[in-house]
Amino acid sequence: MDPKRIIIGSDHGGWELKDFLGRRLSAKGWSVEDVGCEGPTSVDYPDYAIRLCHRLKQEEIPRGMLICGTGIGMCIAANKVPGIRAALCQEAYSAQMARAHNDANVLCFGARVIGPELAWSVLSAFLDTEFEQGRHQQRLSKIAVMENDRDLAKP
Ligand code: RB5
Repeated sequence: MDPKRIIIGSDHGGWELKDFLGRRLSAKGWSVEDVGCEGPTSVDYPDYAIRLCHRLKQEEIPRGMLICGTGIGMCIAANKVPGIRAALCQEAYSAQMARAHNDANVLCFGARVIGPELAWSVLSAFLDTEFEQGRHQQRLSKIAVMENDRDLAKP
């Protein structure tokens, strides 16, 4: 697994921010793969969320980034894919904790909510933070059980 590999995707609401962050990532030495979309034409965000999440899993790409207008739709869709832990973060502390405590593998942004430089600082915090394991792993294991058997998601 190449630790500096990232896959990115967006809908029409997020493609400009995705383009900005993708170019910044490449300039910083990241290997960036873009699953679309490519412009302002209206598309359906779940198509890109699912495409990105399946590739991330199949190709063992360590990190993903999904952007739509608010980040909410992308985050909801991505979290339907078993093994995906997507986090919508609009500031760096949440992004750091999403990695340290939740081992999030996909970061979501709302391009209509956050500016490009703030988004870059949030993304940097996400990429620079390691999962702390320990007590956090046992909690994630419980979520994995819920993914595998929906009946176990009952209280
Ligand atoms: C598209 O207009 C918008 O609904 C989408 O980008 C996203 O914000 C959904 O959660």
